[in-house]
Amino acid sequence: METRVQPAPFHLDRRELADRYRHNRERTARVFDLVRPEAFYENPIPLRHPFAFYAGHIPGFSFLTLNERGLGEAPVDPRLEKLFERGIDPGSIDEARRHERADWPAREAIDAFAGACDERVLAAIAGGAIDDARVPRLVRAQAVYAILEHEEMHDETLAYIVHRLPAGLKERVAQDYRDHAPPRNDLVEIAAGDATLGVEQDEIPFAWDNESGRHTVPVKRFAIARYPVTNADWLAFVAAGGPIPAFWIERDGDYRLRGMFEDLPMPGSWPVYVSHAQARAYASWAGMRLPTEAEYHRAAFSTREGGERAFPWGDEPPEHRHGNFDFQRYDPEPVDAHPGGASDWGVHDLTGNGWEWTSTVFAPFPNFEPSASYPQYSADFFDGKHYVMKGASPVTPATLIRRSFRNWFFEDYPFMFAKFRCAADR
Ligand code: AVJ
Ligand code: FE
Repeated sequence: METRVQPAPFHLDRRELADRYRHNRERTARVFDLVRPEAFYENPIPLRHPFAFYAGHIPGFSFLTLNERGLGEAPVDPRLEKLFERGIDPGSIDEARRHERADWPAREAIDAFAGACDERVLAAIAGGAIDDARVPRLVRAQAVYAILEHEEMHDETLAYIVHRLPAGLKERVAQDYRDHAPPRNDLVEIAAGDATLGVEQDEIPFAWDNESGRHTVPVKRFAIARYPVTNADWLAFVAAGGPIPAFWIERDGDYRLRGMFEDLPMPGSWPVYVSHAQARAYASWAGMRLPTEAEYHRAAFSTREGGERAFPWGDEPPEHRHGNFDFQRYDPEPVDAHPGGASDWGVHDLTGNGWEWTSTVFAPFPNFEPSASYPQYSADFFDGKHYVMKGASPVTPATLIRRSFRNWFFEDYPFMFAKFRCAADR
């Protein structure tokens, strides 16, 4: 079994952090470039704020978390900082209406605010006291990593919202589409063994509060599908009375897929994107169930010899050949497109091509403590209605791909790039 990883001494590399911040700002700008200027105040997902909010929120949150709350600096603009402080995750359209407002600032004012925030953040990264072992929110430059990962996550959630924008309001990016007959999907037998969940804060440069605390969970033997459930599989479910995914469009009794830039003839070999509630319904219709978070870990990271690895394919850092992630494209690929990313058990498509739903309710690990730099990050979502997702989607930056990372969404929120696979007791 794996032994305790030696604590890595923390090395502050200001240049690397500044490059990552700038790289993130550029990626965010690229996603905004997809939104035609006349759509800047649209909110294609009524449960989320309009694009204008995100233009202010991302840099505003970075400034507030690092400079103001982290380093105790003076504000840039208290009114805009408050306005852009937090997004929304309402449980219903009615609840979302209560957050609606008609008076978002002019784009020029938001851009000026964003520019001022960026300048102050970059100055802090270049020369501020960002790494201070005596201040909890600055230990191991925690606030800097938090703002970097916050923006990386928002580039993804922004892409989900752009996806819902009508094609006429988006700028297209050229993409090729691959589809073929779906591979035969069999069940892979996974032996009983331990799964290591969580991570110690000093094992890796940064971990969020919800992934902190390395611990072992015994997992009974079980079976798991080699590939995620595809659109072709879901068609059979629809024929048996199953629900239509939010990514599908019905036209003359035929189904097409809503792609990022255009409607496509249904790609049968792509994973189907559905909500947790829909995934659950499919699994029970198929006489199976969703895997738990610990079972996902067993299928992805354990080896037949009894060890555990950092990624499904081994210990090398993620490369594009391992899966469809890191904005290589905005749409899925066939579930068997990346054999190089298969786990030791031969389970495919575990990292990329859509996050994977688990049956595990998003809840704190033992000894959970809210992050000092962002205490509400996870704690606000421990309500029994959010479920853990693992892996990555086409629009997950590679910097977020690590074994311990946990994503989560509301059980019937249907707009994420989220797939699933079935599991069964043995
Ligand atoms: C971790 C992706 C569920 O988008 O609600 C962004 C990330 N938190 N700003 C979300 C987040 C605050 C979060 N997810
Ligand atoms: Fe946010």
